[in-house]
Amino acid sequence: MAFGDYQLEIYLQGLSGVLPSYPMAFAELEAKAQSAMAPSVWSYVAGGAGDERTQRVNVTAFERWGLIPRMFVGAAERDLSVELFGLSLPSPLFMAPIGVIGLCAQDGHGDLAAAKAAARTGVPMMTSTLTADPLEDVAAEFGDTPGFFQLYTPTDRDLAASLVSRAEAAGYKGIVVTLDTWIPGWRPRDLTTSNFPQLRGHCLSNYFADPVFRASLAQTPEENPQAAILKWISVFGNRLSWNDLPWLRSLTTLPLLVKGIQHPDDARRALDGGVDGIYCSNHGGRQANGGLPAIDALPGVVEAANGAPVLFDSGVRSGADVVKALALGATAVGVGRPYAYGMALGGVDGAVHVLRSLLAEADLIMAVDGYGSLKDLVPDALRRVDAAEGTR
Ligand SMILES: Cc1cc2nc3c(=O)[nH]c(=O)nc-3n(C[C@H](O)[C@H](O)[C@H](O)COP(=O)(O)O)c2cc1C
Repeated sequence: MAFGDYQLEIYLQGLSGVLPSYPMAFAELEAKAQSAMAPSVWSYVAGGAGDERTQRVNVTAFERWGLIPRMFVGAAERDLSVELFGLSLPSPLFMAPIGVIGLCAQDGHGDLAAAKAAARTGVPMMTSTLTADPLEDVAAEFGDTPGFFQLYTPTDRDLAASLVSRAEAAGYKGIVVTLDTWIPGWRPRDLTTSNFPQLRGHCLSNYFADPVFRASLAQTPEENPQAAILKWISVFGNRLSWNDLPWLRSLTTLPLLVKGIQHPDDARRALDGGVDGIYCSNHGGRQANGGLPAIDALPGVVEAANGAPVLFDSGVRSGADVVKALALGATAVGVGRPYAYGMALGGVDGAVHVLRSLLAEADLIMAVDGYGSLKDLVPDALRRVDAAEGTR
């Protein structure tokens, strides 16, 4: 079945009076999610760093690119499949890691819901270090879809090694080390309500279940949660330097990716240091305001990666954005906030709807525009929209 067939499914259901249960447009999805989420969770998920300009331009920067349709191509069947680290994936879409996705589901088990959505759609999930349910329980819901584990590298090297070996044992297919969040960025929305979910004990299950973390405590997290949270604060953020890369590399034989790369030199040096893939992202503008739109960093990073896989996220809101990121050289494209909003509205079903909609739109754009497979999506498929022409 083609991803685009989702639209036929919706139109056919309409014939018997059944309308889609979840919003079809991002703006409506976002607005409805806001009403469905607790205010503290909403502001944590929707907010970003500073006045959120970087977060906004992540999204609007996609408008500066236009796809050029090609006719007489007859792209009757589109092939969106991709090979990534020896894995055959049905599409290049993946769920970016979202700590607190656990809280986005109404039952507080959003990590499990995201894993179930991965199983249903074939869209891999990247499980955050910050989950409501331990990484092993999340992996148990993946079905046949591969999953990746995102590591926030703790200051305690033994704890880092323990988290990675647990991820290996649980069957994760790659380790994604996030580099841009050893310290939280300045987030006025959360500061205004003095709200940081982890400090309230949320989404620390991977730590509280970890044998190395537990051994470092005088009392168990169950006996003394406050002490466990204080311990977590002291181990959370490791300000890594290039000297740490050989150690990181030595932690696993799984594919190792580094997330948060935006400079071509950093991509080059990380690959020289033995990583298997680059993840170009500015964390959805949540970490440092005042930056470039992430999509503007992508072409330089792709060039520097010299054929190594480059994953991308930040600002993807539609199937058109997915296609544009692929044309600019991404090997795979991450969706972030939109699946969190879908989950807030409808748990597994809501997240599945968001993923299927993105894939359907991407597939149909490729059909209409005559791009039959991902290898046809090259920079030449795009033109820069000139701001002077008044398009923005
Ligand atoms: C609420 C929230 C929590 C996040 N938690 C993590 C995390 O735990 N680890 C991580 O690497 N990235 C995290 N991210 C960043 C995402 O992986 C991704 O880079 C970002 O959502 C992309 O921006 P977009 O959602 O605006 O498209 C988080 C993002 C959001 C919105």
